[in-house]
Amino acid sequence: MPKEIQTVGVVGLGAMGSGIAQLCMEAGIETVGREVSLELGEKALDRIAHFLTRKVQKDQLDQAGRDAAVGRLRLTDDLADLADCDLVIEAIVEELEPKRELLRELERICRPDTVLATNTSALSVTEIASATSSPERVVGMHFFNPAPLMPLLEIVRAELSSDTAVDAAFELGERIGKHPIRCHDTPGFVVNRVLIPLLNDCVRVLDEARVSVEDLDAGMIHGAGWPMGPCALLDLVGIDVHVHAAEAIWDKLREPRMAAPPRLVAMANAGLLGRKSGRGFYRYD
Ligand code: CAA
Repeated sequence: MPKEIQTVGVVGLGAMGSGIAQLCMEAGIETVGREVSLELGEKALDRIAHFLTRKVQKDQLDQAGRDAAVGRLRLTDDLADLADCDLVIEAIVEELEPKRELLRELERICRPDTVLATNTSALSVTEIASATSSPERVVGMHFFNPAPLMPLLEIVRAELSSDTAVDAAFELGERIGKHPIRCHDTPGFVVNRVLIPLLNDCVRVLDEARVSVEDLDAGMIHGAGWPMGPCALLDLVGIDVHVHAAEAIWDKLREPRMAAPPRLVAMANAGLLGRKSGRGFYRYD
């Protein structure tokens, strides 16, 4: 394994990938960001630059630090440009086969000592790793949304992950300012194993108790100390993302509470995806 992580690759610069790239850039790490087109990469860079500018305006970062951070991201649409990375984190679509295919490709492109990490939230890291012939270098690095703001990082040990790969991912997590915790590869890992059924329960309570969306959110904020209500949180995470993760965990555990409530499935099917589509439980103009 590389002695020190100097260059990190991030594959997929959507909400999670761009947040992860931002963290690396701010921590002084050379970052290579890969999107399917340079146009999508530029959009992600604009988003990152916007958040960094806000930090300057709020005196959390100076202008020179912001400019240096922005300069640390190299965009590409070619996976081959990740060849020199010490660690690559994938944050592409949350589907098993594309992730397995990507890791197979990364194994071919990257050095044998490059750590390959997946940001999957509900798929099995072991199943993703088994697509490669070097599963010992594959680990889970599960960030929470929004990645730059949420302190937690789950470092997930798959069946065949080596200590060196797990330790490298853990150390990188600390360097980029996260609070990493270690766990094994089980459905939902630690937080989603608890949070997904809890959010499902919240949505069921909406219908059972005939409470309004606003009042349910107020209830959990003022009665349980949550930083935001469950409906606002589902809108932030993405209704489709939550339904998909719930289905993946339900598929593995077969516990009824894991299954997404029909109301959420209907919202996902109707395109009411939350903040990203402009409408979920709330409207976002
Ligand atoms: N980088 C830097 N700054 C960012 C940012 C980013 N990517 N995204 C937002 N910000 C900034 C914004 O610019 C904003 O500042 P300005 O308004 O001044 O521009 C600020 O952060 C956030 O403003 P808010 O008023 O929304 O901040 P807040 O104090 O209310 O906190 C929160 C927001 C951290 C999201 C908080 O509400 C919270 O902790 N919510 C819970 C989130 C949560 O539980 N996430 C986990 C979801 S589950 C998951 O992710 C698992 C999975 O696998 C799906």
